[in-house]
Amino acid sequence: MAAMRDFDFDRATETADTTEQAKRHLIQPWPYAGSIGGEARSLIGSGDGIYITDGDGRRLIDGPAGMWCVNVGHRREELARVLYDQAMQLSYNTPWYTMNAPSALLAERIAAYAPGDLNHTFFTTGGSSAVESALRFMQFYNNVRGRPEKKLVLSRGGAYHGSTYLSASLNGRPRDRDWMDVADGLVVKLSSPDPFRRPAGMTVETFADGLVEEFRETVARIGPEKIGAFVAEPVQASGGVIVPPPNYLQRIRTLCRDNDILYVSDEVVTAFGRLGSVFASQEVFGLDPDIVTFAKGVTSGYFPLGGMVVAEHLLEDLRRSNHPDAMYAHGLTYSSHPIGCAVALANLDLLENGVLQHARAVAPYFQERLKTLEDLPLVGEVRGIGLMACVECVADRESNNPLKLDYEVGKRIDAHCHALGLLVRPLIHMCVMSPPLIIIREQIDDMVAILREGISRTMEDLSREGLWRG
Ligand SMILES: Cc1ncc(COP(=O)(O)O)c(C=O)c1O
Repeated sequence: MAAMRDFDFDRATETADTTEQAKRHLIQPWPYAGSIGGEARSLIGSGDGIYITDGDGRRLIDGPAGMWCVNVGHRREELARVLYDQAMQLSYNTPWYTMNAPSALLAERIAAYAPGDLNHTFFTTGGSSAVESALRFMQFYNNVRGRPEKKLVLSRGGAYHGSTYLSASLNGRPRDRDWMDVADGLVVKLSSPDPFRRPAGMTVETFADGLVEEFRETVARIGPEKIGAFVAEPVQASGGVIVPPPNYLQRIRTLCRDNDILYVSDEVVTAFGRLGSVFASQEVFGLDPDIVTFAKGVTSGYFPLGGMVVAEHLLEDLRRSNHPDAMYAHGLTYSSHPIGCAVALANLDLLENGVLQHARAVAPYFQERLKTLEDLPLVGEVRGIGLMACVECVADRESNNPLKLDYEVGKRIDAHCHALGLLVRPLIHMCVMSPPLIIIREQIDDMVAILREGISRTMEDLSREGLWRG
């Protein structure tokens, strides 16, 4: 057995040891079979504000804010102190038989922000477990209400809802499903609401009408008595920051209500500030879902926490049912974790005391500056909302065909940007930008300048290698 050694923060940026340890012993998320368990990725040693520092000591703008989560920025002493203080006060208690104060207080504060009658929160360990909890709740709800056949879930192309079995079954990107088993019999897929990929010559309004019609037709074909829930991100995040056509989500919401289908708004990315509000469903999209799921920004990534907020009327239905002893047999060891909830409370303080306001103020500048990249021949579209945006590269602006070298392009841009001081999160041929919400105008200028240079260098490389003609 290897000798135990205390982790040494001063050595955390020494790449040689870490690279070898990772290659020998670490399985990274989303690995390929050919390199599983043998792969090293860029080492990040430290973070401060919107910046992270890599293993070579290079300071990078954290373009994706980790995974859309470090909303209030790195190295916030206010949050670090709460982690320590709560651990010294109460590091853990069993949520099976006991409870703690931070989780009750956080649930109360979340209820004040949540839309409609969404009043109660069930806390989980992250986004996948939040979506999984919502789906299992829907199943339980319909079992208790004597409608065991009402369990199918509608989700959309381009969606990403997680990596647990049920949540992953909702995912809509082919690559997420190609080699994985999913609960196909439980899920019905609808089209992606991506206006950029609408048929040539079609207006966005007609495109939206088509999506609503598809929904209506699908429900009629399958039967509303078989469909339990519709699950949707307000803005498809990992699908490439797909901002849906105006009013489309509201129209689907109405159809869900008409057909007694639960509307689950997956706000794992959009909640806690990314669009300038604590929850975006109502404030940004005018929606009152039955369940909202959240994670990531709730603790700005300082502790793994997620949850679902459930409408009071659903709980009322259960309480009034003929099965008072039926059990929602669902809970996690770390449900309502006191440290996670305490950190979330402090994070919410930061959001309320300036960060949300700043995010709203700086978002138009962020979008406007990124939009200037559309003059580059490799860039097909820059789109976004709030502090999330996507630069989509295409080979041919006329037909909007994704570049054949899809996988190459994002990686190449990322490599150039990394050398220049920006971490990009390439999604095939798309570069997604969702920096910490505390980013200021000068830093946005730096980010866009680096991205411009990274894309320009990629265009030069591709032309030189004869792979692309701009
Ligand atoms: C919209 C959405 N839902 C759910 C998840 C899954 O969250 P987690 O990775 O915390 O399990 C993600 C992750 O990116 C997400 O973007």
